[in-house]
Amino acid sequence: MPGATGSLSSAETMAIFQQYVIPNYTRYPVCLVRGEGSYVWDAEGNRYLDFFPGWGCNLLGHCPPRVVEAVREQVGQLIHVPNTWYVEAQGLLARALSERSFGGQCFFCNSGAEAIETAIKLARLHGKPNRYKIVTMLNSFHGRTMGAVSATAQPKYHQGFEPILPGFQYAPFGNLDAVNKLIDGETCAIMVEPIQGEGGINLPPPGYLAGLRELCDRRQLLLIFDEVQAGMGRTGRWFAHQHDGIVPDVMTLAKALAGGVACGGVVAKPEIAAMLKPGMHASTFGGNPLGCRAALATIETIDAEGLLERAVAVGERFRTRLEALQARAPAIKEVRVKGGMVGMELLIDGMPIVAKCLERRLLINCTHGTVIRLLPAINLRDDQIDEGCAIIEEVILTL
Ligand SMILES: Cc1ncc(COP(=O)(O)O)c(C=O)c1O
Repeated sequence: MPGATGSLSSAETMAIFQQYVIPNYTRYPVCLVRGEGSYVWDAEGNRYLDFFPGWGCNLLGHCPPRVVEAVREQVGQLIHVPNTWYVEAQGLLARALSERSFGGQCFFCNSGAEAIETAIKLARLHGKPNRYKIVTMLNSFHGRTMGAVSATAQPKYHQGFEPILPGFQYAPFGNLDAVNKLIDGETCAIMVEPIQGEGGINLPPPGYLAGLRELCDRRQLLLIFDEVQAGMGRTGRWFAHQHDGIVPDVMTLAKALAGGVACGGVVAKPEIAAMLKPGMHASTFGGNPLGCRAALATIETIDAEGLLERAVAVGERFRTRLEALQARAPAIKEVRVKGGMVGMELLIDGMPIVAKCLERRLLINCTHGTVIRLLPAINLRDDQIDEGCAIIEEVILTL
């Protein structure tokens, strides 16, 4: 039966992949079949503690009850209607995001890359007639579609796909002077992750984001914050830039937006949003009732369970544990934490540590070769933090 699942072993699923799925991902030899909170189970019934649920999408852990309930209810009511109709959940989600950010208007899509493409188009519209260049930051990550990958200032992601979209110029993250020097009469926007995620959990130096805001105001540039990884409460504020008390002109969202259901979005100040007229931009599945209901349930959960505060507490517990480990482990260069974004930069390759944690049934990530990255659920319990940190400690201290 082509539709039935749940009966294959991990090895059997892997054999099917070998023949029928394009091998463009490096996968662990495990097939996950069920999740609850910060635990997942594989096809053999083994349980794993997940400190990287859904690559940052599962902000509330696996199968958060309110999201499950909302999707269950919605799926029997209306799965999809196109944007030629009004959809109540899309309107309510736009209002919820606007009220929690800077009073903008929203466009919905399905992924981070699509949100970035939308922001690039807004920047180009803003720059008409002569300006089209966008400054982005070294070690940024904005996605894999041609526009988003061109914005991503890491040549390894461009290789094989050149020529990339023209007009992107790259400055070191955190260096205002370098950005200033790149701006010319053809620049229309600056795009930056308020906290770099894939680039290694890089926190902005004090005053950096405010400095970019000031530059944009002075040169009439759009300031675009890519909140795909850092947004939706992960860092203890609804959006990471809110720690700095400034607002962008455009903000991109995805990953955690709908608690693990595919959903992306852009929030733009009303005068910027007004540039998009009917027919200029669209996404067939964007703003569909399922994704929007899941996103509303995600927001409701964060509000009802006080998870902005919990994200801060989770981060501080990780910081305490990992800084104590750093004092005992010379291989750790730096610990960088902002709520539920946790990075530990090593002086050695991080991949063997990920592999050893997997053997001990702890799921973590390594980015940029040497940075152990954790994007835990922000409702992770203290005992779960301790359980996982004990494994990380044991692995690192017995390298
Ligand atoms: C900051 C940021 N922007 C954009 C993206 C692209 O998102 P997606 O994979 O949903 O296209 C990512 C993905 O990791 C990201 O971290």
